[in-house]
Order: sequence, then C-alpha cells, then structure tokens
Amino acid sequence: MVADAAESQTVFFYSQHPISCGMILAKLQAGGGHTRNVQPPELWPHDQDHFGGTSATDALVRQAGIAKGMHVVDFCAGLGGTVRYLAHCYDVTVTGIELTPSRVAGAQQLMNLVGLQDRARVIQGDVMDVELDDECADMVISQEALCHVPDLHRTMAEAFRILKKGGRLAFTSWIADRPLSEADAQLMWDGMAIQPVQSIAGYRGLVEAAGFRQVSTTDLTGEWAPILTQRLAMYQTLRGEAQLAGTPTGHDAFHRSYVRFVELVQQGALGGIRLVAVK
Ligand SMILES: C[S@@+](CC[C@H](N)C(=O)[O-])C[C@H]1O[C@@H](n2cnc3c(N)ncnc32)[C@H](O)[C@@H]1O
Repeated sequence: MVADAAESQTVFFYSQHPISCGMILAKLQAGGGHTRNVQPPELWPHDQDHFGGTSATDALVRQAGIAKGMHVVDFCAGLGGTVRYLAHCYDVTVTGIELTPSRVAGAQQLMNLVGLQDRARVIQGDVMDVELDDECADMVISQEALCHVPDLHRTMAEAFRILKKGGRLAFTSWIADRPLSEADAQLMWDGMAIQPVQSIAGYRGLVEAAGFRQVSTTDLTGEWAPILTQRLAMYQTLRGEAQLAGTPTGHDAFHRSYVRFVELVQQGALGGIRLVAVK
C-alpha cells in the first residue's frame, strides 16, 4: 500500500517534470537547429537530471573504479542521461531501471537519436524488485533517486543480488541528520514524492545490512548548496519556456517545494551523500 502510494506519486511527479524528452528536443532545435546525426555530448547540457551534471557522475564512477567493458546498472535512470554518458565516455554496457513509463520511452527515444541503443538501454522496472539475473553487474549506481523509494532494505538487497562478487555499489542521494518538520516533509512529498530522508548513518546501516563492506561516505552538502541555487534558477527559466513550447512545466507544488528544498540545503537541514561500497 505504502509502496503503491509512493509509486503513483513518483510517476505523477516525473510525468510532469520540466526536464523531459520534448524539452531536450526543443533545446537541440533551438541550439543547433537540428535533431539528426546528433552526437551524444550534444545531449549532456540538457539530459543530466542530478546535481553537478557529468562531473558529479565522473566523481562517482571513478571512486567506484569503473573500467572499460563493465556492465553498469543505473537504478532509477530517468531519461537515461547517465546511461548514455557512461556508455559513450567509459566504453561500458549500461542498463537503466526506471519506474515512470514516459521516462523510459523518452530515454529510449534519446538512445536511438544518438545511436547508443546497442550498448545502453533503459528498461521499465522497480528497483525494489529488479528483473535482472543474479551476479550480472560489475557496478550498480544511482543518483538523486533513492529518496523516492519506500523500501531501501529491498533495494539494497537487489543491488547486492545482481552484483558480481567484488562489484561496487555507488550512489548519491539526499540526507538529513534529523527528520524534517511535518510541514516540510509534507511539502517534499506533495511537490517531489520524497520519502522520509535517511541520515548518513542510516544509509551506512542499510548497505551493511545488505552485506556490503568497505563502505565509504562523503558529505556533499557544501557542494550541493551553490549547485542547487543555479538549478532553482534553471527550473524557473524552464517553466516560462515550457509554457511557450507546450512541454511539461512541472506542477505548482513542485516549484514551491524546490524553493524550500534549496533553503533547507543552504541551512544544512538537508544535504547530500556519496556512498561507495563493495560486495
Ligand atoms: C531525479 S530522477 C534521476 C534520474 C537519473 N538518475 C539522472 O541522474 O538523470 C529520479 C528517477 O527515479 C525514478 N524512480 C523513482 N522511484 C523508482 C523506483 N522505485 N524504481 C525505479 N525508478 C524509480 C523516477 O521515476 C525518476 O525518473
């Protein structure tokens, strides 16, 4: 029941999200005037739906020891920005798992657009119950998405199950040292489908309980504060552009919750973690 509510709220939010396949195609047309023979790097300025863009992805996967030829699984892959980036820049095979049907369809459209469909894909699924074989992956990553997932014990157990022995789990996500006020928690749920936020110790406990070892954590809160200020400005600009272009604008609660989210990160009441662990 709780999982069903979380999933419908998440799908509702991401189906209206201002970063969409339609918006990315509109940006390409406005920038280069073309949507044929598009090269993967032309998408990077528009399709990275996590904080810090491709440099945050580099920091995450390099710390986890990415190498050519690996199979990487991206939990909660969205429009597949990271899936395409890793396949193109690191010569790995990537499978993204994504809940929201319109994001899966958009991800695949963009995959085909840049010709990466043989090495990179996003499939519909739930990270609490992954339809991949045991020990099929060298690395499981996730960026700014575990905050939506209601059962992280199951999610970590699934990451552990699909990783080969010695494989790495590497993710970034929201953290809070103590629970948000009831009003802020409600706003984050209404606006962005956010579950109760874990602490660093909470995440460490979850991954250790799943069987991972050598867990290392980095507090990203200081890095996130200026990035999020810029991101809020970007969403405010995108909202006006989306109204003109007829692409999704994001619902009102999303825009209200984002303003508060950025304030909470600047105050240190919310923040970010990078966690890397070994199976
Ligand atoms: C902030 S976006 C991140 C997208 C991607 N990681 C990126 O960096 O571009 C979060 C994504 O998580 C997906 N998601 C949330 N809960 C999920 C679940 N239980 N299983 C799979 N995907 C989920 C949402 O649909 C959304 O597309």
